[in-house]
Formats: sequence, C-alpha cells, structure tokens
Amino acid sequence: MRFSPCLLLAGLSTGVHAFYPWELKVETGLLRRFMPWTLLPSTEDDISAKKPLTFDIKKASVRRDTYSIVEANTPTLPNSAPLDQDGMDYSYFAVVQVGSQKEEMWLALDTGSPSSWVFGTSCTDSVCTSHHTWNKSESSSYYSNSSSYSIGYGSGDVKMDLGQDIWSVADMDVTFTFGSAFSVNESFTNYPIDGILGLGRSHADGWTIPSFMDVVASKALLGSNVVGFSLSRAADDPKDGEVNFGTIDTTKFDGNISYTATNQDTWTIPLDDVYVNDQAVNLTGKSATIDTGTTYILIPPADAASLFALIPGSSPSGENYIIPCNSTATLEFEFSGIKYSIQPEDYIGASSTGGCVSTIVGHDSFGNNTWLVGDVFLKNVYTVFDFDNVQVGFGGRLVNSTSVNGTFSSSNTTAAVTEGSTSAATASGSASTTAVATGSASHLSLGVGSSLLMTVLSVLFLRA
Ligand SMILES: *[C@@H]1O[C@H](CO)[C@@H](O)[C@H](O)[C@H]1NC(C)=O
Ligand SMILES: *[C@@H]1O[C@H](CO)[C@@H](O)[C@H](O)[C@H]1NC(C)=O
Ligand SMILES: *[C@@H]1O[C@H](CO)[C@@H](O)[C@H](O)[C@H]1NC(C)=O
Ligand SMILES: *[C@@H]1O[C@H](CO)[C@@H](O)[C@H](O)[C@H]1NC(C)=O
Ligand SMILES: *[C@@H]1O[C@H](CO)[C@@H](O)[C@H](O)[C@H]1NC(C)=O
Ligand SMILES: *[C@@H]1O[C@H](CO)[C@@H](O)[C@H](O)[C@H]1NC(C)=O
Ligand SMILES: *[C@@H]1O[C@H](CO)[C@@H](O)[C@H](O)[C@H]1NC(C)=O
Ligand SMILES: *[C@@H]1O[C@H](CO)[C@@H](O)[C@H](O)[C@H]1NC(C)=O
Ligand SMILES: *[C@@H]1O[C@H](CO)[C@@H](O)[C@H](O)[C@H]1NC(C)=O
Ligand SMILES: *[C@@H]1O[C@H](CO)[C@@H](O)[C@H](O)[C@H]1NC(C)=O
Repeated sequence: MRFSPCLLLAGLSTGVHAFYPWELKVETGLLRRFMPWTLLPSTEDDISAKKPLTFDIKKASVRRDTYSIVEANTPTLPNSAPLDQDGMDYSYFAVVQVGSQKEEMWLALDTGSPSSWVFGTSCTDSVCTSHHTWNKSESSSYYSNSSSYSIGYGSGDVKMDLGQDIWSVADMDVTFTFGSAFSVNESFTNYPIDGILGLGRSHADGWTIPSFMDVVASKALLGSNVVGFSLSRAADDPKDGEVNFGTIDTTKFDGNISYTATNQDTWTIPLDDVYVNDQAVNLTGKSATIDTGTTYILIPPADAASLFALIPGSSPSGENYIIPCNSTATLEFEFSGIKYSIQPEDYIGASSTGGCVSTIVGHDSFGNNTWLVGDVFLKNVYTVFDFDNVQVGFGGRLVNSTSVNGTFSSSNTTAAVTEGSTSAATASGSASTTAVATGSASHLSLGVGSSLLMTVLSVLFLRA
C-alpha cells in the first residue's frame, strides 16, 4: 500500500457502489480531496458464493474471528515464514507473534510502506473484535512511547498508540516501535488482516521512526538485509506462498534474479517498457513501485490507453478496461532488459457487461509516470527487496518446480544473485517528513494512505 488518492467502495455485501472520498493529510495539515475511483459493477451477483471452496480453507474456529484463510506450507529455509492468503489472491499475510505473550496476529506484509501496527484490545468496535486484537497490558516487554499516530488510509483512519515491543517472525525476535490501534475505520472488517508489518523503505511516506527492517539491519540479525517474496496463485496452489528474510529460495524461481536499482525512496524502479503480443507500447520515463500490499496494477490513464489499444477486443469504461474473457494476449513488463510475462488469468478479472474487467486499471496514483505494480504482477515472479543494495530483483516464479511462465524472454544475461552481503546499512534514501504535530507534542498525525485497502476492496468486484 502506498499513498493513493482515491475514492473507495464502501460496501461489499450488496454490490451497489457506495463511494466515499479519500483524504490525504499533507504536511500543512490541510486535507486534499481527490477524484472518485469508479469501478464497474460485476454481473456476478453473489460475491460471497464465489470463494474457491475446493481449497483447504481454514475456517478458523481456533480464532476469535470469522475469516477464512488458506495457510501456506511451512518453508524449510531459515528465517522464512509461510505466506498465507485469503484463497482469492486478494491479500497475503504471515503470522507474527507479538509481545511477551506471543499473541499470534495475521499481518499483511506490505512493501508499500514502512509503518507497522496491530489491532489493540482497547478498540472495542466490531471491526476490532472481529479480528485478533493485542492487549499491550498483558505484555511484560511493552514500553509505551506515550504518543499516538493517526494513519489516513483510503478506507478511513487508523488511530494508534505508539509503543515498543517484541515481534517474532521467521526465526527473528525484533524489538521496535509500532502502533497499537485503538480506533479503526469499520471498512477494515472486510479483510482478514490483524494489522500490517511494513517492509517499505526507511522513512518513506512520512513514517520517521525506525522500521522493522531498520532494526533487523542495525542489530545485524541477517547476513544480508534482503526479503524474498513468493506470492501464491490460488488457482495453482494457494499453499505455495513464502517469505524469506536474509536469504533467497532458489527453488522458487527459474534461472537468475535480475536486479534493478531503485530510483526513489520507495521500492520504485525504472520500467523499460511493456509489450503486448511482442509489440512494444513504447513507454519512456516510467517507473514502477513494487508493492506486495496492493492487489492490482494501477497505471496512469494515458499509459492504460496505449496498453489496452494493443489488447484485441478491449474497450475503456471509465478508469477500467473491458477485455475479452478469453483473451490470450501475452503481456510482458520489462525491467533491466528482462521481460516478465503476466498470465492472462491474472490480468483478466470478473465478467461484466461486454466482457471481463481487467485487473490493470487506468488510475493515476502517483503522477503520470509512476505505475503501482501489485500482486497481479508479483504472482508471476519471485521478488527480492534488497535493503543493502537498494534494489529490487525478479526471477520467473516456479510452482512445484514448474515454471508458471513468469519470465517470458530475456535480452540480458548479466543478471546475478547478490548474496552474503555483510553490509548492515539500511537503505534510507531521502526521507520525507510529513508527520506533523497536531496540537500537543504527544499526538502526531501521519499522512499515510493505503492502496492496499482500496485494491482489496475493489478486487472483490473485479475478481469475485
Ligand atoms: C488486558 O490485560 C489487562 C491485564 O491483564 C486486563 O486487566 C484487561 O482486562 C485486558 N483487556 C482486555 C480487553 O482483555
Ligand atoms: C520508544 O521508546 C523506546 C524506549 O525508550 C525508544 O527506544 C524508542 O526510540 C522510542 N520510539 C520513538 C518513536 O520515540
Ligand atoms: C470510515 O471512513 C469513512 C471514509 O473516510 C467515513 O465516511 C466513515 O465515517 C468512517 N467511519 C468511522 C466510524 O469513522
Ligand atoms: C502443486 O502441488 C500441490 C501439492 O502437491 C498441488 O495441490 C497443486 O495442485 C500443484 N500445483 C500445480 C500447479 O502443479
Ligand atoms: C545466470 O547467470 C549466469 C552468469 O551470471 C549465466 O552464466 C547463466 O547462464 C544464467 N542462467 C540463466 C538461466 O539465465
Ligand atoms: C513502437 O515503436 C516501434 C519502433 O518504432 C514501432 O514499430 C511500433 O509500432 C511502436 N508501437 C506502437 C504501439 O506504436
Ligand atoms: C473468445 O470468445 C469469443 C466469443 O465470446 C469467440 O468469438 C472467440 O473466438 C474466442 N476467442 C478465443 C481465442 O477463444
Ligand atoms: C542488462 O542489465 C543491466 C543491469 O542488470 C543493465 O545495466 C544493462 O543495461 C542491461 N542490458 C541491456 C541490453 O538491457
Ligand atoms: C501529468 O500530470 C500533471 C499533473 O498531475 C499534469 O499537469 C500533466 O498534464 C500530465 N501530463 C500528461 C501528459 O498527462
Ligand atoms: C507456459 O509455459 C508452458 C510450457 O512451459 C506452455 O505450454 C504454456 O502455453 C505457457 N503459457 C503461457 C500463458 O504462456
């Protein structure tokens, strides 16, 4: 998730579109209002009936909540964790043990932002009690920072107390500062996640305190500060997801990892070009923010028009594009001279009037040169976020040692895996500071927005 100026769908049950404005709190404390996010209605009426119940979905009676998830297989590599999902490729999360009581929380692993938080027990609204909540009073290792933050997500605010405690995940015990939410907008009811573990770059999006990976790096918990993601595709094997810290799972990709240096203080890298059926769209000056916390691919409207013009049978509908439900067009994104294909099943969404809605949306999130590239792409590759060398790497993803057509072709054989770096330096880039004091010194307001929530919500209509 990253800042994303959008309106969101507010309701999920009826399929009726209820929009509400997304407001970005900027440094001055002013509120900015953005253009509405328009999404096409699905012609499939009962969204709840579309869950792929053939999968081994854990109906979590062991939990206090009602969410269904698919638990991934336990990885064999050290410092690795299963990357669970909801069975529909909408959201990906891992179990993190929080505090001295080691409460198990399902946290979205989000490379779009460095901020981390959990639902707190002090929140007694149904949105919180329907999730796992964490009681900071029951943790003997909790240290309150006596300050609070408000994060303005696209689907509403999350207000949290800041404090320091231990999080345990992937064989690491990390003591750092995070939020314990005491007020959460009810729209979070729609997601299984009990909070967010931010894996964005240091200080990006206005989060000025040390992030989880900042602490991992400063304590030198890993040989190299890399995080590798293998996002599962439910249609192939929903239990296949995995996240690796400090290591790269060579069984999850084919060939080499090809790296591209970031060009901003986020996980943003230059996008060479995009190809449809081998024909170049001829993009120039574009960058892609690689965001595990975003479900879709959101691209500037002008680029969307150029791209879909090359997909036979496509037509615009607001910010969306209707494409043939049986499209077989090959779609490839090129980074550092390597082209990575996106399976048609990933870019073809739910059926709608006249075809299917594409999961690639013409929406300007961060200006007209930045693409927000989320899980629709990342299911096709194994992705490495390299904090030491400030670069993002991709390899074609393997499922059961079989190619899932992640890498389509390569015009560049110089790629190589970076391993065993001893540098513990964190990638901080240029820090943006949008945290502003609002009155008292003990209350900070942070203008961080979320496209995670927006895309999870919207995709229910696209893919349901
Ligand atoms: C949190 O823990 C404290 C200390 O054990 C307890 O007094 C309190 O009732 C707990 N709160 C909730 C909501 O369970
Ligand atoms: C919170 O308090 C701890 C313990 O004093 C401190 O190490 C940490 O830097 C504080 N965090 C912030 C954001 O002030
Ligand atoms: C949740 O957020 C929406 C959009 O900002 C807002 O309309 C609604 O009032 C919020 N709900 C609460 C309980 O604050
Ligand atoms: C991968 O293996 C799992 C477990 O053996 C199986 O359920 C799944 O269908 C396989 N997926 C593919 C794409 O071969
Ligand atoms: C991987 O990179 C090495 C050189 O770094 C090269 O020799 C090898 O052919 C590459 N393998 C693939 C599958 O691209
Ligand atoms: C991209 O440029 C190439 C070479 O100039 C040209 O052949 C091709 O038609 C262009 N693609 C589009 C979509 O215009
Ligand atoms: C896709 O479906 C349309 C009818 O809906 C049909 O005319 C066309 O031949 C199909 N294309 C492929 C590639 O199957
Ligand atoms: C190959 O990739 C490297 C970086 O990995 C880049 O510097 C180089 O320009 C690329 N070569 C081509 C032909 O794209
Ligand atoms: C790019 O965006 C800026 C501001 O968002 C706008 O003024 C400009 O017209 C856009 N350029 C194009 C080519 O769309
Ligand atoms: C994926 O690769 C297999 C062979 O490895 C091929 O049969 C299949 O057509 C490819 N699918 C796509 C969508 O490229």
